[in-house]
Order: sequence, then C-alpha cells, then structure tokens
Amino acid sequence: MTILVTGGAGYIGSHTVLALLERGDDVVVIDNLSNSSKVSLERVTELTGKEPTLYVADILDRHVLRDIFSNHTITDVIHFAGLKSVGESITKPLEYYENNVVGTLVLLHEMLQAGVDSLIFSSSATVYGNPEKVPLSEECQTGGTTNPYGTSKLMVEQILRDFSLAQPEFRITCLRYFNPVGAHESGRIGEDPNGIPNNLVPYISQVAIGKLECLSVYGNDYPTPDGTGVRDYIHVLDLASGHLAALDHKAEGSSFKAINLGTGVGYSVIDLIQAFEKAAQTKINYRIVERRAGDVAECWSDSSLARQHLGWQATRTIDDMIRDTWNWQKNNPDGYGS
Ligand code: NAD
Ligand code: UD1
Repeated sequence: MTILVTGGAGYIGSHTVLALLERGDDVVVIDNLSNSSKVSLERVTELTGKEPTLYVADILDRHVLRDIFSNHTITDVIHFAGLKSVGESITKPLEYYENNVVGTLVLLHEMLQAGVDSLIFSSSATVYGNPEKVPLSEECQTGGTTNPYGTSKLMVEQILRDFSLAQPEFRITCLRYFNPVGAHESGRIGEDPNGIPNNLVPYISQVAIGKLECLSVYGNDYPTPDGTGVRDYIHVLDLASGHLAALDHKAEGSSFKAINLGTGVGYSVIDLIQAFEKAAQTKINYRIVERRAGDVAECWSDSSLARQHLGWQATRTIDDMIRDTWNWQKNNPDGYGS
C-alpha cells in the first residue's frame, strides 16, 4: 500500500510514518514544515532503513496534491496536517479555520478527483467540550468547544460525516486522540514544541532538563482525588499503531466512524510530576497557581469501541510514556535543533 501522510514530519505524523515503513508500506509525506523539521523524517529513515517521499508543500496547494495523486498510486490518506495550539487559535482564528477546515476541503476535493477513497482524520477529545461524564464514549454529546482549534476539529468531523453520506464508497475514520505524550524508545524522534510549551508533559520535561525553572500547576481545587486535573495520557507509539489498525479495519462497518484513541485511565498532574521525578531521578520544581481558563477537571476515554472495531488497545503504561519522553528530552535538549 502507498499511504499519503499529511503533516508527516510532525510529532504524531513522524511516529506513524515510522510504523508504516516498518510494516512495509510505502509512504508519501506532504508537510509545509510550519511546525516541524525534516530532520524528523531523516531520523525515521535512519531508524527504518527506508525513506518516505517528502513533498515540502502546503495542503492548501491543490496543484501539489494533484501532482502527488498522479505521481503515486495512493491507496489511503492519513491526515495530520493542521495547526494545534489552543491559545494561538484564539488570537489567529482565520489561520486555524483556513489550515484545518479549508485544508481538509481541498484535500477531499483532490481525493475525490483522483479516486482515492480512504481517509483517517486526526480528531481530538476536544470535540466533547466540557465532558458531561467520564469515561467519555463516542455516544457522548459533542460540541461546546470554547476555542477555534476545538471548533475546527468539530467542523471537520461534521463535514466528513456529511461527505460520507454523499460518497458512501469513501471509508472515513475520525480518530479522537486523548493526550498524546512520549517518544520513540530510541530517543531519536519525539515532540519538539516551538517556544515555551503549553502542554503539561513537554513543560515538565523542560523543567527536568533545567531549561525552565518551575512548573505552574493550574489549580488544585478540582473535584478530583488530589485536586489537580486528570487526563488520559497515551503513548505516541500506541497512537501510531491505532492508525495502522484503522487502515486494516477500514472496510468494516459504516463508511464514517469516530473512534476514541485513549488508554481508558486518567492520571492527575501530581501523578505525572511523580512519574517524572522517578524517571529523571530529579526533583520537579512546581507551584500551584490559578486554574487555566477553559480547562476541565477530568477527561478520560471509554476505549471499548477501538477494541471492538479496530482490535486495538493501548499497551504502554504511564511509566513507559514518561521514561521515553525523558530519554528523548535528555538526548535532544534542543529538540531537532540539538
Ligand atoms: P504537529 O504540529 O507536530 O504536526 C502537524 C504537522 O502538520 C506539522 O509538521 C506541520 O508542519 C504540518 N502542517 C500544518 N499545517 C499544514 C499545511 N497547511 N500544509 C502542510 N502541512 C501542514 O502536531 P501533532 O501533535 O503531530 O498533531 C497532528 C494532528 O493531530 C493535528 O491535526 C492535531 O490537531 C491533532 N491532534 C493532536 C493532539 C496533540 O496533543 N498532539 C491531540 C489531538 C489531536
Ligand atoms: C490541551 C488542549 C486540548 C488538546 C490537548 C491535546 C488546552 C486548554 N487544551 O488539553 O484542546 O486537545 O491539549 O493534548 O490547551 N497543566 C498544568 N500546567 C501546565 C500545563 C498543563 O497544570 O503548565 C495541567 C492542565 O491544567 C491539565 C493537564 O495539565 O489539567 C494537561 O494539560 P495539557 O497537557 O495542556 O492538555 P489538556 O489541557 O488536556
């Protein structure tokens, strides 16, 4: 099979490209490198001995997509390309809707034109808004997103649902990721955030390595066991294998599916700090501050649909996630710029 991976140089994309190459698929990547470096793919080649074909281009450029579909016999598309910072989406809503929504529309047009009818889309647990209950199953209400990033994911899911009704031969899977963390166990590829990280795990890593002084814990008065926010962290390699499972099971069931990819287990901010202290053998400096606007108390998945439909479940523990994050961070203190 030849898989087109949009955003394949990014964090989740590079780990998925590696998993695809390892199992013998051919991979074509389109990435404009707006939030990544092609060093990630060079390292994927170093690890697998195989090279994906890289187009450094924007998915908004329909001519490049047309060339890709005519130059390669693409069987499936995995669509990671998009912008992902919640805070930035509030100040740059047009960029977010253009990249995430219009970008997907351009891609769909070109897939239709080329007769490529299998798509896996990177969605997010953010589509559930403020969870009505946990664990979150796919039956739970979606909506109530509070920022353009979350709304763009919700809009794309709706577009894909409508599109699948008009084009029933299309196989579309929206994978709703919970909180992706971790890195390849080699320590050669991992998450390389631009500037000061917004998310918990990259922030703690930079405190552990001494690049940042102190973690701000956003609130310890939530109705959770230790008062700090609880999330469903999932190892990026488990996520990557979830995409392979979705490719393998694409023909089963209805033409549109939305499936959670999580572990089904929640950990608090304090749990993560402790796991990091154990892995890095260092004290993590932290202080409790006000809650962050828009945060929810707890969010974790019911992951039974993924087990039933994809025969997939996460296998890596929180200690694996933090060990691999730390291994990546200490070997690459400046990410791909190291
Ligand atoms: P990332 O930023 O590391 O990867 C996205 C890649 O897409 C980058 O390499 C970037 O350069 C590229 N890109 C962005 N806009 C593009 C465009 N218009 N044309 C071509 N390339 C473009 O992010 P990631 O963490 O790997 O996330 C991948 C996908 O998963 C995103 O759609 C994101 O919204 C979604 N997601 C991520 C998380 C998370 O926490 N990481 C959680 C849920 C969903
Ligand atoms: C964030 C995004 C969400 C996105 C998800 C992907 C926000 C508001 N939400 O979710 O849309 O889908 O990333 O992974 O950005 N925390 C701290 N200190 C920090 C950073 C985080 O205490 O410096 C806490 C948060 O309050 C939360 C937990 O750590 O309880 C996890 O936060 P984060 O990693 O940012 O992920 P989410 O908020 O779940």
